[in-house]
Amino acid sequence: MSLRPILIHPDPRLKKVAEPVARVTPEIEALADDMLATMYDAPGIGLAAPQIGVLKRIFVMDATRDPEAERQPLVLINPEISWSSEDLNTYDEGCLSIPDQYGDVTRPAQVRMQWLGLDGKTHERDFDELWATCAQHELDHLNGILFIDHMSAIKRQMITRKMVKLKRERARG
Ligand code: NI
Repeated sequence: MSLRPILIHPDPRLKKVAEPVARVTPEIEALADDMLATMYDAPGIGLAAPQIGVLKRIFVMDATRDPEAERQPLVLINPEISWSSEDLNTYDEGCLSIPDQYGDVTRPAQVRMQWLGLDGKTHERDFDELWATCAQHELDHLNGILFIDHMSAIKRQMITRKMVKLKRERARG
């Protein structure tokens, strides 16, 4: 298991549509392990494969916010939304690829998601509250969409400029 570097926006790999996973192989299992370790280390509540430069349809999440609570890691391969609620929820979202920037995003309050698990079986589950927001945010990543793409152009450009500056500073070391 190893920690993978997380790509910072703007990066062309964060704007690509990721490819479906044909089947669960030892490589996919190792990738999921690395993604979970990287997510918990960050720390974050979700991480999608494109964020570590792997253009495959897989994301991990654990939206249990209480640090005392038992971990609930989920690995979702080829996830799809089969139902969304009409009622909406607004969360102040953030993203490991856009460090220290937050903004309100409104999404369906509940979603039903289907995915392939590491056990090779199809799973289905309803998510609500932070889990629903996180699941939709991560699914967006697999389609090259960032949470700032749901915000106004002015806010998006302001955040993007900050990230360009951050990347320049980090490159200088
Ligand atoms: Ni994100």
